[in-house]
Amino acid sequence: MNIILFGAPGAGKGTQGELLAKRFDLVRLSTGDLLRDALRRGTPLGLEAKRFMDAGELVPDSVILGLVREVMAAESARGGFIFDGFPRTQAQAESLDATLDEMGTPLAMVIVLDVDDETIVARLSRRLACPRCGAVYNLDTDKPKTAGVCDVCVTGLVQRSDDEASTVRRRLEVYRAQTAPLLAYYESAGVPMHIIAGDRPVDEVQADLVRRIES
Ligand code: AP5
Repeated sequence: MNIILFGAPGAGKGTQGELLAKRFDLVRLSTGDLLRDALRRGTPLGLEAKRFMDAGELVPDSVILGLVREVMAAESARGGFIFDGFPRTQAQAESLDATLDEMGTPLAMVIVLDVDDETIVARLSRRLACPRCGAVYNLDTDKPKTAGVCDVCVTGLVQRSDDEASTVRRRLEVYRAQTAPLLAYYESAGVPMHIIAGDRPVDEVQADLVRRIES
């Protein structure tokens, strides 16, 4: 089963995607996480991506498609993928279609997490992330047990460099201009689509997602 988890920056894709991947034994493929991992390791690809990410712009398709192909080839034997933050452009969507065709595993659905811009800016100003293991927290809704320290690997938490309010606003503009139009692409292709209100507590959103997937 392959699912695209779609939504603006900060809509909760990572939070929900991780829970769904565990529940349905799927591989969560987050291009944002792959890029941050490449950056942590100091690879040329990570360093090239950093200037786009810090500016709130999209990383070039050529970089993204190489990363995605690698992961999909390595994980193809698993039960399917939850795509989080991918695809973000028409070229990425077409490439994903071609790869899934080759694998003989179609897209089951697109799920859109719908959250308004003000909630997103507020949420992301309160997000903390672990620079070592990538765990995500929120100072309002999901605090670490010890202030400023990752529960998983006891590393000091940081704010993501692209979570500053002006960069978040740019990311929202980029989402609207380059990524949101993909919904029309999937609609015209007849892929089932579910729009879920993402501005409810995490458990409620998750229960709704599970219900839609199981039905
Ligand atoms: P990426 O990492 O994909 O960022 P994003 O899509 O902007 O999404 P976020 O990770 O910011 O948010 P999220 O929706 O996962 O929310 P989360 O669950 O963390 O991309 C970063 C950059 O990389 C891009 O700008 C681009 O430069 C580049 N990039 C990545 N993929 C690319 C691609 N395919 N093509 C080109 N460039 C690409 O939640 C946010 C916060 O809210 C957390 O603190 C969380 O605890 C909290 N929260 C979650 N759910 C709730 C809830 N229901 N109620 C209250 N708080 C909640």
